[in-house]
Amino acid sequence: AHGFLLKLITLLVVHGLIGRSWAMVFVSGGYSVKIYDNQPGQSAKAVAEIRKQLEELQEAHMLRGELEATKQLALLSSHEDLATALEGAFFIQECVFEQLEVKQSVFQDIERLVGKDVILSSSTSCLVPSKVFSKVQNRSRCLVSHPVNPPYYVKLVELVPHPETAAAVMDTTHFLMTKVGQAPVRLRKEIDGFALNRVQAAIIAESWRLVQDGVISVEDIDLVMSEGLGMRYAFIGPMETMHLNAPAGLEDYMKRYGEGIRRILTSFGPVPDFSGSEGAKSIVNEMCQLIPGDQQHLSARMERRDQLLMGLAQLKKDD
Ligand SMILES: *[C@@H]1O[C@H](CO)[C@@H](O)[C@H](O)[C@H]1NC(C)=O
Repeated sequence: AHGFLLKLITLLVVHGLIGRSWAMVFVSGGYSVKIYDNQPGQSAKAVAEIRKQLEELQEAHMLRGELEATKQLALLSSHEDLATALEGAFFIQECVFEQLEVKQSVFQDIERLVGKDVILSSSTSCLVPSKVFSKVQNRSRCLVSHPVNPPYYVKLVELVPHPETAAAVMDTTHFLMTKVGQAPVRLRKEIDGFALNRVQAAIIAESWRLVQDGVISVEDIDLVMSEGLGMRYAFIGPMETMHLNAPAGLEDYMKRYGEGIRRILTSFGPVPDFSGSEGAKSIVNEMCQLIPGDQQHLSARMERRDQLLMGLAQLKKDD
């Protein structure tokens, strides 16, 4: 059914991490990728950076896909001209700055240059499709494919349709993402924050309030997640967790615990003030005592995070 898929993808990157990660993910699945950036030299720089990373990943036996690094690199090219970059592509993944006007005009330019069956996909995490694609004529071919950072190890991709997006466009994108080893989920309609960031915001808000109200320290609330909830959530979500936590499944769980959950939910405080207030400053200070907020310390912790995620990704492969 997907025989019409040409193996060519164009990535529009503005020297970002996400664009480079997408390129690595797509070439790992055997797709040709053309990288374009409107700043001269940036797309070539991205390819050089990806070469280095793919070689390191191969060295560490962490390279994704069936092909070796040199074969994956051969699928990659950089372009200085938008029309050339788009030529022959069946799928365009945009990864430019999170600025509505920029994205709108980029998609306007792209639409003029591509055939009518080309899928236009945006990496945005904070703009809904009806805004991003408002200047595109044929919006049935448009959707958001929102990755999670870093996409090479965290595989979720949220597929978010525009109200006019064709079912076939969602299906093709779902197929493509699965083919390259990502884990796509479909939203049935657009909503601010999509699913991931809405759930994340709920967790952030209650964690923040618990620290601010003096219930728990910054260090310990992070442990509640990393040593508690997170242990399960790497493999099963909140719905299955509940289903498995009562003798007769979810309905039984809610009979036993639903009232308690409702009581807790109604005791939640208001949306926190995340910056400016004294409380916020003291939370930031507490965090910075654990991990100083300078470049050197943060980079070291990011590297650690990516190493650990790599190991977890490996473990999940055998799951
Ligand atoms: C609009 O996009 C859809 C999905 O890619 C395509 O099938 C259709 O032919 C396009 N319509 C026009 C008028 O270009």
